[in-house]
Amino acid sequence: MDPMIHSGLEWLATAVVLLDRSLRVKYLNPAAEALFAISRKNVLDQTFPGLFVDSGTLAGLLHQAIREERGFADQDLILAPPGQEPLHLDCIVTPVELEYAALLLELRPIDQRLRIEREEQRMTQHRANRELIRNLAHEIKNPLGGLRGSAQLLERELDRPSLREYTRVIIKEADRLQALMDRLLTPHRPPVHVPMNIHEVCERVRTLILAEFPQGVRVERDYDVGLPELRGDPEQLIQAVLNIARNAAQAILGAPSSTAREVHGQIVLRTRVARRVTLARRFHKLALELQVVDDGPGIPADIRDQIFYPLVSGREGGTGLGLTLAQTFVQQHQGVVECESQPGRTIFRIVLPLH
Ligand SMILES: Nc1ncnc2c1ncn2[C@@H]1O[C@H](COP(=O)(O)OP(=O)(O)OP(=O)(O)O)[C@@H](O)[C@H]1O
Ligand SMILES: [Mg+2]
Repeated sequence: MDPMIHSGLEWLATAVVLLDRSLRVKYLNPAAEALFAISRKNVLDQTFPGLFVDSGTLAGLLHQAIREERGFADQDLILAPPGQEPLHLDCIVTPVELEYAALLLELRPIDQRLRIEREEQRMTQHRANRELIRNLAHEIKNPLGGLRGSAQLLERELDRPSLREYTRVIIKEADRLQALMDRLLTPHRPPVHVPMNIHEVCERVRTLILAEFPQGVRVERDYDVGLPELRGDPEQLIQAVLNIARNAAQAILGAPSSTAREVHGQIVLRTRVARRVTLARRFHKLALELQVVDDGPGIPADIRDQIFYPLVSGREGGTGLGLTLAQTFVQQHQGVVECESQPGRTIFRIVLPLH
């Protein structure tokens, strides 16, 4: 242990934790004790992620940081000490070369206001993006019609059949663009809210996924059958969940290891009740959480922060609209979609208020 380093950390307002290569706590300063309401002597030598509920993702990231000797920053890390409200934290992780410690964690609580502001910013940006894309799609559609029509007229005038190949290409490509523009422009039907059961949505999605991917993907259910009814638009919610589950199936089947004939990927549809949540600035006593969990390869790191933006795709042949649409539909229900991903475990969470 290095008393010099520790005395420097004792007085910091930021919570600091030092971990060894097995993620065991080697030191934590008084600010960290206060933040997690734990005492240093009780947690020394325990694994840090083990102090929190459901912290597998954090453990994965910390191990990766050690392996690759590379730090990272997480702007909304959620840590839930057992029996306590989850903490939302800004977290900076830095590899260190000390005899007894390999990682230094700096953790700062994000206050509720800042969190809501960030979420609002994301929503505003999402709306602005959608508006921009819609306008653009509209502008592209008009000349596209002219191009296609002219190619058709030209085709009739051409006497050499070999030249028609070119007009065919123009028409075919114009049709492909047209279909893309139509998808960009569709979801503007206002939702029709009726009393409904979220498990009917899950069951429909399960049937559709199994029909579309008859091999290689299992879809397990883990429902909280005591969940109360929801008011929502069943078609829109089915579409939202289907887009998310289809991505999961595609990721499982597209993974390199799946070239072997025996692929056994699993998607879990899980429902739970969530209490006391703030969604889009409104506090809700009761909400429902629908998780779509898959054990596929995870979201490619280079697009992880952008997957909800339109036209962002990490998949050959993908248009990058599935998640944008899913988010739009969920937002129309005053809900949010969140995602966390690492190889072997990707979770999409849809949280919808219950009235
Ligand atoms: N469960 C998942 N596992 C791994 N990657 C995922 C997962 N879900 C989404 N992705 C990544 O996010 C990208 C964006 O998804 P999105 O559904 O918006 O578009 P897409 O699937 O590429 O195209 P589209 O849905 O419009 O046909 C995907 O291309 C994929 O790279
Ligand atoms: Mg998709």
